Amino acid sequence: MTTVTMRGACLAHDDTGAVAQLHGLGIQQFDGTYYAYGENKVNGNLFQGVACYTSDDLAHWHNAGIVLAPRAEGLLAADTIAERPKVLRCPSAGEYVMYIHAERGDYNYAHVAVAVADNPLGPFRFLFSMQPFGNISRDIGVFQDDDGAGYLISEDREHGTHIYRLSDDYHSVVEDVVCLRGTNYRYGYESPTIVKHDGLYYWFGSQLTGWDCNDNMFATAADLHGPWSEWKAFTPAGSRTFDSQCDLVLPLPDGQFLYVGDRWQPKDLGNSPTLWLPIRIGGGQALLEWHDEWTYER
Ligand code: GAL
Repeated sequence: MTTVTMRGACLAHDDTGAVAQLHGLGIQQFDGTYYAYGENKVNGNLFQGVACYTSDDLAHWHNAGIVLAPRAEGLLAADTIAERPKVLRCPSAGEYVMYIHAERGDYNYAHVAVAVADNPLGPFRFLFSMQPFGNISRDIGVFQDDDGAGYLISEDREHGTHIYRLSDDYHSVVEDVVCLRGTNYRYGYESPTIVKHDGLYYWFGSQLTGWDCNDNMFATAADLHGPWSEWKAFTPAGSRTFDSQCDLVLPLPDGQFLYVGDRWQPKDLGNSPTLWLPIRIGGGQALLEWHDEWTYER
């Protein structure tokens, strides 16, 4: 067993000494190694490629470079916006499939782009972009269930936020599983992420306040189709989720969970700190706790 020390809010640095571009990130464990895919925001908001970092403990990050480079023109080029890269390994094809929120110069295009690679370190190759079943797609998340089924979670303004089931090859959506708005809220929640624990799905998301933080919410269900519980905050009301916007909730060894969120600095996005905090999950409840520093065993 090794004790890993985590810092609650930090500007994670990689093994080259640079600030890790782990913004709007997604993390997956492939063959025992954590792979984090983040928005590279060193020079502001326009697309500078998807950065990838690897780690054994979620505290030390090796810079594996840009795994999806900006294209010469069109979508995902350097004059566009692309956010919240999320990668899944497709069990049937063994391929690595990246979903990423793809915009043109502003936030009106609202598509999700799909890129693939044979290796988690890329290079990822852009395939196409889509609006699932014709629906607007802004912030996204992904979820892989125990049976290998893949899901795309996608925010669609006043309609709500959808969970779409992916095809066997993960290249398309085959079912609009559910579309939820918040409780007493006219939109769905964004920056969506789902984790499963003890047969219950926990869905986390943030209200729509751009780079500003708000009290993020969660809901639970025994089936992705629902019924879903009411949405509730998981930090003290008014704490604005300790000034962060959720990216993901990740299982750690021994039934512990890690919350990762962005504390955006709109004028200096590349140096926006990330929150790495323990979140207690169980019995339909979720509670995020503040710690300047904390540890877990691996
Ligand atoms: C937020 C979203 C971020 C980014 C930001 C831009 O709502 O979660 O990923 O798009 O808006 O204002």
